[in-house]
Amino acid sequence: MNPGELLEISGYFWKTCALHAAVKLDVFTVIGDAQFTGKEISEQLNGSQKGVERLLNVLIAMDLLEKTGGKYANTPAGKTFLAKDSAKYLGHIMMHHHHLMESWSQLDQAVLSGRPVRTRSSFSNDEWRQSFLMGMFNLAMGLAPKLVPLIDLSSHRHLLDLGGGPGTYAIQFCLNNPQLKATVYDLPTTRPFAEKTIKRFNLADRIQFTDGNYLKDPIKGRYDVIWLSHILHGEGPDDCRMIIQKAAGALEPGGIIIIHDFILNNSMDGPLFPALFSLNMLLGTDSGQSYSEDQIFDMLTAAGVKDIRRIAVESPNDSGIVIGSV
Ligand SMILES: C[S@@+](CC[C@H](N)C(=O)[O-])C[C@H]1O[C@@H](n2cnc3c(N)ncnc32)[C@H](O)[C@@H]1O
Repeated sequence: MNPGELLEISGYFWKTCALHAAVKLDVFTVIGDAQFTGKEISEQLNGSQKGVERLLNVLIAMDLLEKTGGKYANTPAGKTFLAKDSAKYLGHIMMHHHHLMESWSQLDQAVLSGRPVRTRSSFSNDEWRQSFLMGMFNLAMGLAPKLVPLIDLSSHRHLLDLGGGPGTYAIQFCLNNPQLKATVYDLPTTRPFAEKTIKRFNLADRIQFTDGNYLKDPIKGRYDVIWLSHILHGEGPDDCRMIIQKAAGALEPGGIIIIHDFILNNSMDGPLFPALFSLNMLLGTDSGQSYSEDQIFDMLTAAGVKDIRRIAVESPNDSGIVIGSV
């Protein structure tokens, strides 16, 4: 690595902050399909013309806005991914990232103490919960259409999406498998987000939401497939074993359990994103972490799961899938 690359990594947060500020101020929605002067945009944002124009000019340099004859307009990327009225809006996950920044700036303290520094959780208030849960929707909508066809559920009837959040994967599995119905199991505070999302896809007759806390409550009902996406990394190894045991116990004989998460290699030192994600869990939880393939295989084996295998997946954040049956 050369000094230029190192300095780019060191200063990258400037670009991050410019993007977050623009999303937080909703610049791209305000501009929409129109063209405005800096003065007009600053008036709509109720902000200083000096500050707003400085940000707008950076957004031009980042190819998110363009300027003709002194007027600012969205580029296709700005309009498609950052304007709130777009179906491909990614602002929720960006606001979730923004909420994590304070804790990431104290990483040195968490590293030394081995303890979380985050004072607020993603569930603390409505705004944080919305950006977390709908941020999960943003991420899963990018990946689920690619992952779901890799898993043959054509002979399955009832999927449990454990910790399913807004239900994105349950939705995509049902869209891909017309015979399938699904239950999304999550905390009661998630219900409105899941029900709204399920309704948006016209699947309310096939996907139901059930309130539950997988650390404390039983899993009611029997399923022939259980999908656990991005929930193990939130818990320590003992709780993960307990959750997997509970899930395996809710499967009909021959049913399958599928784990989707950021999976580390067995020496725990890569790929980069799962390794970074493990730091993110150190910052925010007592015992959450990324797990290696060996660790996940061991947890499944301890729960009596058989025929455990990894499915090859190409995903931007190096998430992986492990599947087994009871
Ligand atoms: C990282 S999100 C993953 C959401 C979804 N599975 C996905 O992959 O897009 C973790 C989910 O687990 C839920 N969750 C966290 N702790 C839980 C608990 N103790 N019981 C039930 N759900 C929980 C959260 O509400 C959230 O929806």
